Amino acid sequence: MAEPTPSPTPKIIKNDPWYGSYAARAETMRASEIRALFAVASRPEVVSLAGGMPYLDYMPFKEIAELIDKMMVEKGDIAWQYGLAQGDPHLREDVLQIMRLENITDVQPDDVVITNGSQNALDLITRIMCDPGDVVLAEAPNYVGALGVFQSFQVDVVNVLLDKDGLIPESFEEAVIEQRKLGKKVKFLYTVPNFHNPAGVTMSVERRPKILQIAQKYHVLIIEDNPYGLLGFDGQTYPALRSMDDENVVYLSSFSKIIAPGMRIAWMVAPPGIRQKLVLANEASVLCPPNMSQFTITTYLDNFDWRQQINQYRGMYRDRCNAMDAALREYLPYCTWNKPKGGFYIWLKIPQGLDSRAMLPRAVTAKVAYVAGTGFYMNGEGRDHMRLSFCYPTPERIHEGIRRLSTVIDNELETTQLFGTSGVPDADPRDAEHPGPQVQ
Ligand SMILES: Cc1ncc(COP(=O)(O)O)c(C=O)c1O
Repeated sequence: MAEPTPSPTPKIIKNDPWYGSYAARAETMRASEIRALFAVASRPEVVSLAGGMPYLDYMPFKEIAELIDKMMVEKGDIAWQYGLAQGDPHLREDVLQIMRLENITDVQPDDVVITNGSQNALDLITRIMCDPGDVVLAEAPNYVGALGVFQSFQVDVVNVLLDKDGLIPESFEEAVIEQRKLGKKVKFLYTVPNFHNPAGVTMSVERRPKILQIAQKYHVLIIEDNPYGLLGFDGQTYPALRSMDDENVVYLSSFSKIIAPGMRIAWMVAPPGIRQKLVLANEASVLCPPNMSQFTITTYLDNFDWRQQINQYRGMYRDRCNAMDAALREYLPYCTWNKPKGGFYIWLKIPQGLDSRAMLPRAVTAKVAYVAGTGFYMNGEGRDHMRLSFCYPTPERIHEGIRRLSTVIDNELETTQLFGTSGVPDADPRDAEHPGPQVQ
């Protein structure tokens, strides 16, 4: 099994002659101090429970390669050419059948915009909606990549609470009222309703219309980010917010987790005015999404039983989630977590007084890696949690990883009991950010 390639540690630049010339937004982009640690964490001897990478070894690469060969012979001149800023019409037609699985039935190819991954979609929507100082409401904890985008546009992220049934509608309404009282412009609510990254929870079906009603009442746009919706372990899907409201929701989905992230292809559905602006922003940013990637995806969708392949993924991730849950019960019964019903992640609460961020170097020394909870907040919260990914390692490796983690946590607890602290100085909360490109 191939291990992920570690990203090179950035060279430290001393005496940068351009210091002082950067835009204010570049100042908010900071390399994580634990990036170097993640290069170590990617070594084969370390069990990485850190990254959100799908496991691709079951993909029929040989058959895919033969079909891509054929596609290149027949359409190479178009595949290697510039394309439309809105994306390939064939792919925009193909994604309609995927969205139908989550009750979105009223969309036409013209309503769809193809992007370079959902990450690019988040960038585009923030670019067209937000000025510096505007407010985005977002679940806490929150997807680290979205926080990075919001930060780079100098947006104020205001937390909305989550529980085991997903985003709490009352917390959403209170946040809108409070921010408006403060004279702030609330530009949108960002939510990951299904199998949340990192919290693992899913928005209950009862809450969905309530959240839409609040959005309608206060005229707040909802950004529904849904890369994991088809990865429910028992095959269950949930009605998308977009399926109940075509005016106040921008819907994002991606091929990254259901097929593969290397193509960097995702899509958005937006109301007409917003869509027009998104296409212009896409054009300004990348001219067009890559035809080669889009044609590869359509070749795959048109020739393979992709529903069956997603079923296979679901079964595999279910087994891995079960393995992690069982290992946690065996080795860390005094921690707490909600067992997810789909997706990639368990959000683990560690005993009071421990600090997941401070503990990380010691975990990596013990050859296990995770993402500290602080990475999923803007304000340094989250030390009492960590995100454990079960998507990439095999069940055996997961078991071993949790065993190693338990030795670290046990030692840490012993130190805390002896000295009343985990023995590390308080860290700068501004460093609690994107822990490197392996972490999605
Ligand atoms: C919630 C969420 N949104 C967006 C993304 C980005 O996905 P993509 O690979 O399509 O850019 C991820 C990746 O992990 C994610 O977890």
